[in-house]
Amino acid sequence: MKKLLPFVFVGAAALGLAAWMPASSTSRPTLTAADGALEESMEQMNGCLKSLLKGINAETKDKALETLAKMQSAVLVAKLEKPHDLKPEELLGYRRMLVDLLALTCRVEGAVLDGKFDDANKLVKEELTKLKKDGHDKFQKEEKH
Ligand code: HEM
Repeated sequence: MKKLLPFVFVGAAALGLAAWMPASSTSRPTLTAADGALEESMEQMNGCLKSLLKGINAETKDKALETLAKMQSAVLVAKLEKPHDLKPEELLGYRRMLVDLLALTCRVEGAVLDGKFDDANKLVKEELTKLKKDGHDKFQKEEKH
């Protein structure tokens, strides 16, 4: 049995490695802009913003709520992204602004649910478009939209 012991250890080590390898090759690293997910999520946000800018009222309420949910999920994707070569503190600023954006979409959603359509439309026309501009002035290399 003593003679077999080294083989047992080597076998166990190989099994351990085999168990580790598939996990490491399948686990997805943090998303990067190279995946195209950032552009895609921004385009999704843009479609949502355009739709919301058409105006929210009692008739369009359900569609607006759906659009806001889509917009929120796009913000969640963008939060995992790193646009170009940001320094760590710039990346924090980028994420902070997206948290503000997510919170703002929740405020709009709250206003819609409360039936306060004037408030909701004001938030979209003034604050949402301003946050888009601020985010792009600060973090987008060249303005495309
Ligand atoms: C309502 C809010 C927003 C809308 C509708 C929006 C929309 C867009 C659109 C249409 C693009 C161009 C995507 C493409 O390359 O095809 C873009 C790019 C970008 N946006 Fe936004 N955006 C919003 C808010 C923000 C905020 C708050 C930030 C920063 C915190 C931000 C950061 C960026 C960056 C860094 C890019 C460049 C992505 C790249 O090409 O690498 N955006 N956005």
